[in-house]
Amino acid sequence: MMLRASLLSRTMILFFVLVLLNVRVASSAGPSDAETLLKFKDSLKNTDGLTNWKSSSMPCKGATANWVGIRCDGKGRVWGLQLEEMGLNGDINVDILKDLPDLRTISFMKNNFDGPMPDLRKLIALKTVYLSDNKFSGAIPPDWFAGMSSLKKVHLANNQFTGEIPRSLTGLDKLVELSLEKNKFKGKIPDFRQPAGFTTFNVSNNKLEGEIPEGLRKLDASSFAGNEDLCGGTLKACPSKKPATWSIVVVVIIVIVALAAIAIVAFFILRRRNKESESSIEAPPPSTATVQNRSVRNEPEQQASAPGSPENSNGREVSGKHNKADQSLKLSFVRDDRERFDMQDLLRASAEVLGSGCFGSSYKAALLSGPVMVVKRYKQMNNVGKEEFQEHMRRIGRLAHPNLLPLVAYYYKKEEKLLIADHVQKGSLAVHLHGHQTVGQPSLDWQTRLKIVKGVAQGLRYLYHELPSLVAPHGHLKSSNVLLNESYEPLLTDYGLIPVVNQEHAHTLMVAYKSPEYMQSKRITKKTDVWSFGVLILEILTGKLPTNFLQHGKGSEEDLASWVNSVPQDEWFSQVFDRDMGAGKNSEGEMLKLLNIGLGCCEGEVEKRWDLKEVVERIEEVKERDNIQGDEDFLSSCASEGDMTKIVG
Ligand SMILES: *[C@@H]1O[C@H](CO)[C@@H](O)[C@H](O)[C@H]1NC(C)=O
Repeated sequence: MMLRASLLSRTMILFFVLVLLNVRVASSAGPSDAETLLKFKDSLKNTDGLTNWKSSSMPCKGATANWVGIRCDGKGRVWGLQLEEMGLNGDINVDILKDLPDLRTISFMKNNFDGPMPDLRKLIALKTVYLSDNKFSGAIPPDWFAGMSSLKKVHLANNQFTGEIPRSLTGLDKLVELSLEKNKFKGKIPDFRQPAGFTTFNVSNNKLEGEIPEGLRKLDASSFAGNEDLCGGTLKACPSKKPATWSIVVVVIIVIVALAAIAIVAFFILRRRNKESESSIEAPPPSTATVQNRSVRNEPEQQASAPGSPENSNGREVSGKHNKADQSLKLSFVRDDRERFDMQDLLRASAEVLGSGCFGSSYKAALLSGPVMVVKRYKQMNNVGKEEFQEHMRRIGRLAHPNLLPLVAYYYKKEEKLLIADHVQKGSLAVHLHGHQTVGQPSLDWQTRLKIVKGVAQGLRYLYHELPSLVAPHGHLKSSNVLLNESYEPLLTDYGLIPVVNQEHAHTLMVAYKSPEYMQSKRITKKTDVWSFGVLILEILTGKLPTNFLQHGKGSEEDLASWVNSVPQDEWFSQVFDRDMGAGKNSEGEMLKLLNIGLGCCEGEVEKRWDLKEVVERIEEVKERDNIQGDEDFLSSCASEGDMTKIVG
C-alpha cells in the first residue's frame, strides 16, 4: 500500500515536471528568437540565401533547425549561426544578436562582409567566432577581446585586417584555435602563453616582424611563413644583436649611481646608529621591506625598546632583554590550522601599502615562507580591556564560512591593534565596481554581481547566527569590505568589530552609524546591517558610489536609494542599472527584482524594514534569468566544442 502510494506520487511529480517542461519549451522556443533573427536578416544585404527565414515558422523545433544556417539546442533555442557562402554583406548588427541569450557560436565565413571588425564584445559568452574569407579591414584595437573569456576559437583568416595582432587575445585562457593568416597584420607577435597550447595557430602571410615569442617557438614553420621579417623559432635564426656601445655606457652609469646611493644611505644609517648607540636597543633584524612599511615597523621597535634598554628606569632586568623583546613581538594566532609566523617575519617581508581606510592603514606583506598577508592597523579600538579584547578576537577567530575572510592573528598594543588576515587576490568589490578600468579588469557582469549579492547574504546570515549578542553582527558592511577571490566569490571582512571600537569614534568610522536610525535616534538595531546591505545592493546594480558614506551627516536626499526612487521606473534600464553589466533582455525581470529588494532594505523606518532572514530568502529567489532554469548546465553538455567541430570545418 505504502509502496503504491509513493509510486503514484512519484509518477505524479514526473507528470508535473513534464508538463512544466513542455510549457517552457512552448513559451520560450518561439517568437522572441524568431523576431530577433528576422530583424537581423533585415539588417543584412543580399539575403537571398535566407528565404526560408519566415515568421510563419519557428527557427527551431527542439534540437532541429527549421531555418537555414541556424543551430538549435534541445530546448528550441538558437545557440549557433552558421551563415556561410551566401554572398551576404551589409553590417553585422551585434546589438540585435545580443537578444539571442543562448548564442555561443557564429560563423559568417566566405561572404562579402567588409568594413571594420564587428563589435562582438557585446556577445561576451561566445565560444567560437568564424569570420574568415571576407573583406573585413582596418585595425582591431589591442583590448578588443578583453573579457571574452569563453572564446575557444577565433578565425579571421583571409581578410584585410591591418595594425597589430590585438594583445587581448593573449589573455584568453581557453583559446585553442587562432587563425589570422592572409591579412595585413604588422608589428611583433604578442607573447601568447595559453596554458593548454594551440591546436591551430596560423599567422602566415601577414607583415609581421621580429622574433617569434617563447611560447610559440615549437610551432611548425608554415604557421609563420610569408612574413618576411619574422625570425626565430622554426624559422631562420634572428640576427644576433650586438649591444650598442652607448647602451653599455648607460648601464655602467646606472650601476655606479646605484652603488653610490647605497653607500650614502649606509653611511647615514651607520652614523645614526653610532650616535644613538648608548641608549640604543636592538633594532629589528635587517629588513628587505620597502620604506612603506616603516610605520608597521615602528610599533614593535618601540615595544621592544621599553624592556630592552639598559637605561630604562622601569625596573625590568636587562638580562631578560631578548626574551622580553621576543615576547612583545609575538602575534596572537586565533586559528589552529595556520602556519605560525611572528612580527619579525612580517617585518622581514616585502610590504606595500594597500590603502588607508577610516580606521587606519592596511599593508600587504609577502612572507619569505610564501603566504601573503594583509595587516590592518586600527587606532580607535580601546573600548574594552585587554582580556576582553583577546576574548572577542578568539570568538571572531572561531568563525568559519566560505563567505567570510577569516581572521588569522592579531597584535595587541594599548594604543593600537593590528589584525592580520590572508591577502585576497582580486581585491575589493569597490575596486571592481568603480575602478575596473584603472586596474585593467573587465567590469563585472550581471551573473557575477548576482553571485556576489548571494554570497554576501550567506555571509551575513552566518554572522547573525554566530554572533547573536551583537546588535549589528557585521557593523561595517560596504563595498571595500567585500573582497573577491579567484572565482569572484565574495569574502566579508571587518565584521564583528562594533564591541571593540571606541564608542566616541564609532559614529565617524563605521557604516552602521550612518544608518537612518542612528541619524534619527542615535541607535543601531538588528536591522541596521540590512540597511547597509541594501545600499550595497544598489551600489552593485547601479555602479554608483553611495555618497552618503562619504558625506556623513548629510540629509537623506543625498543617498543612493532616494536617487533610484527619483528616476521614473520606465527609465530604470536606461538610467539606473549599470550598463557595464551587459545583461540580456531576459534577465531584466530578475534585475528589477533584486533592485527592489535593495530598495526595500533601505527603508528608512526600522519597523517597516525587513529583517535579515526575510532579505536572504528573497535574494535566494532571484535567478539569473526569467524562467530559464538549469539552462547553463544543459548548454555546457549539448553545445560543447565537439559539436561545433562537426558543424564548422
Ligand atoms: C597556415 O596557413 C597557410 C596559408 O596561409 C597554409 O599554407 C599553412 O599550411 C598553414 N599552416 C598551418 C600549420 O596551419
